[in-house]
Amino acid sequence: MSFAQRSDAVHVRAPGKINVYLGVGGRHDDGYHALATVFQAVSLYEDVFASPADDFSVTVTGNVDPATVPTDDRNLAIRAAKLLAQATGVTAGVALELRKGVPVAGGMGGGSADAAAALVACDILWGTDVGPARLHDLAARLGADVPFALHGGTAVGTGRGDRLTPALARGRFDWVLATSPEGLSTPAIYGRLDQMRDERGALADDPPLSLDVPVPVLQALRAGDAGDLAAAMLNDLEPAAIAERPELDLILAEGVRAGALAGLVSGSGPTIAFLCAGPDAARVVQEELRAMGREALHVHGPVPGATVIS
Ligand code: C5P
Repeated sequence: MSFAQRSDAVHVRAPGKINVYLGVGGRHDDGYHALATVFQAVSLYEDVFASPADDFSVTVTGNVDPATVPTDDRNLAIRAAKLLAQATGVTAGVALELRKGVPVAGGMGGGSADAAAALVACDILWGTDVGPARLHDLAARLGADVPFALHGGTAVGTGRGDRLTPALARGRFDWVLATSPEGLSTPAIYGRLDQMRDERGALADDPPLSLDVPVPVLQALRAGDAGDLAAAMLNDLEPAAIAERPELDLILAEGVRAGALAGLVSGSGPTIAFLCAGPDAARVVQEELRAMGREALHVHGPVPGATVIS
């Protein structure tokens, strides 16, 4: 049991993310879509504890239904540990404990944060010391959002979302997250978008295989201007997430009525991120949403990526 081993465990914390902007282009032959996105890491964390062991195992704690998180080889943290072991020739195993703070299947990169934290924790536990460039490469092999969970802050992602360039962001942005008890499947939402685009048919232009983040998004971040960012944020996956879960449209309207500057579906959803004018405004929005019976969390960004705690 990992609790007993906590004293010699390596503890790494990695943040969840919001896609402040998510432009989805055409689909490549490998099934992945071309993206132009802006990630912001927010103050909701996955804590990963890695303890010495002969084989690979994972336990899940935190405010989650354990049945929603696989503990076999589908678990991204286990896959991260095995990938690092394979890449470095390590023959030891690891007992991982995931303390989850990011909603499961919520569109906030919780599994990606687990993978990033597990990579860093195992690298320390095993003394493999692979260095940042190799860590980034291993992260990108695990999933499109994993490199960002390593880096944190605010960053532009292109390619599959894994090619990162830091973005300048001044000050702090206050977000209220409306979470849903039931997650959405990321591949299903991308599939729904493809289907909606197909239905538009020959009249629509083919989505491009290379695209850019609009300048007003980057300017608003650079200026630390929440009002300008609220006007510029956009998520191409939002209509697909709403088609799959029509209630999201209602929640978007509720948050704006509660005083948010604007709201958007985070990643593939169903979490909705409401941008607020500041901490006080966010507290009001959070209270109003809770009074309407919604689960609401107040977070801020940007925050650092995967960080060694002990
Ligand atoms: O890379 P990751 O495992 O996070 O991606 C999950 C799924 O999201 C992929 O299997 C794919 O269906 C979809 N996806 C995509 N294009 C991207 C990123 C993710 O189609 N750029």
